[in-house]
Amino acid sequence: MPTWHHLGRPGRRWFCDLAQRVAEYAAMKPTPVSIRSWLGEFAEPVQLAEFLCKEMPVRYAERIRNIEQLPMPWQNFEELVAVHHLQLAAFQAFQEQPRSQWERVEAFRPVVQEVQQNDKKTKFLLMQAAQKMRGNSTSFTDPFSLELNKFLDDFLLSRLGCNMLMGQYLACTNHDSHITSIVNQCDALDICRKAAEEVQRRCATSQGRVPTVHVSAYSSSGAVNEDQVPRFSYIPGILMHVVRELLKNSCQASLELAKTQAELQQMPINLVVCADVRHVVIRISDLAHGIPRHVGSRIWSYLYSGSPTAMTGLSFGYGIGLPLSRLHAKYLGGALDLVSLPGYGVDAYLSLPRVETDLVENIPDEDVDGGRVSQELNLLTL
Ligand SMILES: Nc1ncnc2c1ncn2[C@@H]1O[C@H](COP(=O)(O)OP(=O)(O)OP(=O)(O)O)[C@@H](O)[C@H]1O
Ligand SMILES: [Mg+2]
Repeated sequence: MPTWHHLGRPGRRWFCDLAQRVAEYAAMKPTPVSIRSWLGEFAEPVQLAEFLCKEMPVRYAERIRNIEQLPMPWQNFEELVAVHHLQLAAFQAFQEQPRSQWERVEAFRPVVQEVQQNDKKTKFLLMQAAQKMRGNSTSFTDPFSLELNKFLDDFLLSRLGCNMLMGQYLACTNHDSHITSIVNQCDALDICRKAAEEVQRRCATSQGRVPTVHVSAYSSSGAVNEDQVPRFSYIPGILMHVVRELLKNSCQASLELAKTQAELQQMPINLVVCADVRHVVIRISDLAHGIPRHVGSRIWSYLYSGSPTAMTGLSFGYGIGLPLSRLHAKYLGGALDLVSLPGYGVDAYLSLPRVETDLVENIPDEDVDGGRVSQELNLLTL
């Protein structure tokens, strides 16, 4: 039986009741949301609120169970205890919400806002906990590291889904502008251009030099003009996140390699947006000599944090930019791959489904996955 000693001093019955409810919800199957529902019924605040009150407890309970099932005593790590506490508080906030509350935007909106606000520190708490749990281990492929990596991947994917759904609720109940977090005419080229401008601004402020970034778009019939740019239903925030992370890495590597502005100009970064009817594919290529050999396949591990240039304005130095970007791509059925050409550069390929029926949330569920370590993590290939 799990203990929740950090929640204050309520009676034993209360603990058992809460433990029982968490166990019941954790055994339930999560319900993935499709882009179609997102643009349809879930653009309506009351329908989305009802869904959140039924679905969020299932996803939070799964995450609580994931923490409790870690192969190390999680109570020994204060950061994990804090994350566990946050999940429990969110579980209760949604599960104990009476109809009279979630039906009224003015009552339910602050609840969602508070959960989102409290969640902000989760990612870094998890990373700190993971580093402590690994202790002095330098291996990334031993069974414990693989299991810890899988825990982080599942946890963060589930958390991303919750944040996206809560973000949708906050967006569609925003009195100032009735917007939704999903755009059914999402312009991939425009987002890539904005990401490039933002990263270039960061380069200018943090390092005083700016790599060149060429952005272009193609459809299956060749190069396209502004008005023929491929559009699709997608969450712009996700696309922006992934492209920004990839560009930050390419810019960082280029700036580290080029000693002068003239050298930097000889190493333009190329971003190509392509689309056919089924997919939007984005390739980001740089000429910064590839992933260093000592880093290799560790780039996909949350446990790797070896950047010597930590906190440059382009990197936090946590070394989670790539695994998190892959997770963002995976969330709605996409994929992210990297090809490193030693001594030449890196090609990153982001592929996203364009057909609405393929755009469905990817939600981890231990009852289905059976705790198996994914093939991706087993192989740890680039
Ligand atoms: N385009 C690239 N060229 C060369 N090395 C790269 C490239 N992209 C990633 N890397 C290497 O892979 C490592 C991991 O990248 P990742 O984005 O996951 O973390 P990071 O950039 O170090 O930190 P952050 O969490 O802020 O992104 C980098 O530290 C760098 O050594
Ligand atoms: Mg990075």
